[in-house]
Amino acid sequence: MTMKMKMKLKNVFMLYFLVSICGLMYALTQLGQPCDCTLHSRQSSDLVHSRDRTISRLQGELKRLQARGNPEGPPKPALPTIYTVTPTYTRLVQKAELTRLSQTLLHVPSLHWVVVEDSPVKTSLVSELLKRSGLPYTHLCTQTPKDFKLQEGDPNWLKPRGVEQRNLALQWLRENRGPSDEGVVYFADDDNTYSLRLFEEMRFTKRVSVWPVGLVGGVRFERPLVERGKVTGFYTAWKPNRPFPMDMAGFAVSLPLLLANPAARFHLSAQRGNLESSLLQTLVSIEELEPRASNCTKVLVWHTRTEKPKMKQEDALILQGLGSDPSIEV
Ligand code: UGA
Ligand code: MN
Repeated sequence: MTMKMKMKLKNVFMLYFLVSICGLMYALTQLGQPCDCTLHSRQSSDLVHSRDRTISRLQGELKRLQARGNPEGPPKPALPTIYTVTPTYTRLVQKAELTRLSQTLLHVPSLHWVVVEDSPVKTSLVSELLKRSGLPYTHLCTQTPKDFKLQEGDPNWLKPRGVEQRNLALQWLRENRGPSDEGVVYFADDDNTYSLRLFEEMRFTKRVSVWPVGLVGGVRFERPLVERGKVTGFYTAWKPNRPFPMDMAGFAVSLPLLLANPAARFHLSAQRGNLESSLLQTLVSIEELEPRASNCTKVLVWHTRTEKPKMKQEDALILQGLGSDPSIEV
C-alpha cells in the first residue's frame, strides 16, 4: 500500500469516527425527554392495573357475599316520608330562618319539605333558597286574607298565623298523594329549633303522635301527661281547658289519617290558642294520642322566637341617601 493510500484510509476512518460520535451525541440528546414520558405512562398504567385488580377483587368478594345470602335478611323497606310543612312570610330574618331550618332538615332521611309562602306570588328569595337547599321540596303560596293578617304594630297573638298556608299544604297532599303512600305530616314553623331525634320519634306515627315543646306558653316546657303509655292530660299553664292544649310543634299526624278525613283543616276563626285543636278535634281523641320522646319526658323541639332586628342606623342612612346596596340580599 502506498503512503498516499494509507493517508486516505486514515481520513475516511477519522470521518467515519466523527460522524458516528455526532450521531451518538444527537441520539443521546433526543433520548432525554421521551424517557421521562415512558416512565410516567408506565407508572399510570401500573396504577390503572392495580385499580382494576382491586375492583375485580371487590366484585368477587361481593358475589361471594351475595351467594352466601344476606345475614340481615331482605333489604329494609323504604322509610315513611316525613312531610314537613312550613308556612313562611317575607321579613328581614326570613332567609336566616329558612337557611337554618333547611340545614337541619338536610340531616333527616326520607323527608319532603312543603314550604308555603304567605304571599300572592312565590318570591325569588324563597325559590332560590329551595333550589339550592338540596332537599326534596314543594313550593306553594297563598296570601292570608287581609282581615286576618297581622298589621304593623299588632301584638302577634291577635290573629292566628300560617293558617291558610298549612291548609294549602293539606290540599296539596290530598291532591298529590294516595292511599298507598306511607307518611307523616309535621307542621314545622320556620323559627323553632328542632332536634334531629324528634324526626325519628314521629316517623312511625299511626294516627297522631305527641311530645313536649320547650320554651312555650310562659313555662319551661309544655307536655302531655302519660300514664301506662296513654295520654291522660296536659302540663300547661295557659288556657288549660283548650280541647288539645298543645303547640303546633308538639304533634305529627299520619298521612293516611289526613287523607281519610278530607274535611280536617285549620280554622281561621279558631279562638286564640285553639288553632291546633281545630285540626286535631276532627282526627283523634285524647286517649288515642301516641306519646313519644320517652313517654313525653324529653324536650326535642323548642318554640324559639327570633328577635326583630333593629334598623335604626339603616333608616338614618336611607334618609341621607346612603342606605345599604339593595341588590345585596340578606
Ligand atoms: C305560635 C305557634 O307556635 C304557631 O304554630 C301558631 O301558628 C301561632 O302561635 C298562632 O297562634 O297562630 P308564634 O311563634 O307566635 O307561634 O307564631 P309565628 O312563628 O310568628 O308564626 C307561625 C308560622 O306562621 C311561622 O312559620 C311564620 O313564618 C308563619 N307566618 C307568620 C306566616 O306565614 N304569616 C304571617 O303573617 C306570620
Ligand atoms: Mn314562632
